[in-house]
Amino acid sequence: MARKMIDLHCHILPGIDDGAKDLECSLSLLREQKRQGVQSIMFTPHFNREKKSVEEFVALRDAAYRKLIENEEFQSMNISVKTAAEIYFAANLDQMDLSKLSYGDSNYVLLELPFHFKPHGLMYVVDNVLNRGYIPIIAHVERYDYIAKEPDILYELAERGCLAHINAETLIKDSSKSSMPMKYIKWGLVHFLCTDCHSMEKRPPKLEEAYSILEKKLGQDYCDDMLENAACVFNGEPLDLTDNIRKPKKFLGSWI
Ligand SMILES: [Fe+2]
Repeated sequence: MARKMIDLHCHILPGIDDGAKDLECSLSLLREQKRQGVQSIMFTPHFNREKKSVEEFVALRDAAYRKLIENEEFQSMNISVKTAAEIYFAANLDQMDLSKLSYGDSNYVLLELPFHFKPHGLMYVVDNVLNRGYIPIIAHVERYDYIAKEPDILYELAERGCLAHINAETLIKDSSKSSMPMKYIKWGLVHFLCTDCHSMEKRPPKLEEAYSILEKKLGQDYCDDMLENAACVFNGEPLDLTDNIRKPKKFLGSWI
C-alpha cells in the first residue's frame, strides 16, 4: 500500500524565494509530490528578519498562496496545504511575532541555523522561544558543520524539547550506518523527513524514495513513527519525544 506522506518543508509557493519561480514550477512540484503519495504539504518560504519585516513577508507569502490555491489544477489535486516559514536564526527571534510564521495555527516553528558557525546564544534564544510556548523544528540538521563535529549540540536542543528533520535527498545520497544523519536518527534526534524541494531541477521532491531507504535500512517502525510525527505537526497536535532521545558518545574517535 502506498504511504500517505506529509511534507513539512518545501519552497513550492510561486515567486517568493529561491524555490518555485512561477506558478508552472509550483504545479510541476505538486504533481510530483502527488504522484509519490504526498497528501499534505506545509509551504515554508525563507524568512530572514534582516531582509524583511514579519508583516512584509506574510503579505507576500499570503499573496503567493492565494495565487496557487485559486488555480484549478491545484484544486483538482486534492492536497491539503497550510502556510508557515523557514525562519533564519536571529538573536532577537524570541522577540518576534512568531504566530504568523508558525505551522498553520500551531505552535511549531521551522528554524534554520547558520551552516558554518554555532550562533552565539543559541541555547538562550531557543529557551526563550520554548518558554513563549513555541516548539522549534530544526531544519535539515545534517547541514550544520558544528553539529556534525559535536552532535551533543543536537542532543542539547532535543533535550530542551526541540524537534528536527533531515532532507530526503540526504538519505538518498548516503544512508550507510556510519553516516551522521543515520546516527542522528538512531539516537532519536531526528523526527521527520522533508523534501526542502526548490524546483524539479534544484532539489526535486523525493520523499517516496527516502522513506523506502529508511524502511530498508532501519525498518518499518521508523517510517511509521516519522509519518505519525509529521501528522501531529500538520494537525497542530502535541508531540513529546524527549523520552526517546539518546546522548551521543565518543568512542575511539567516533560518535556512537
Ligand atoms: Fe528550505
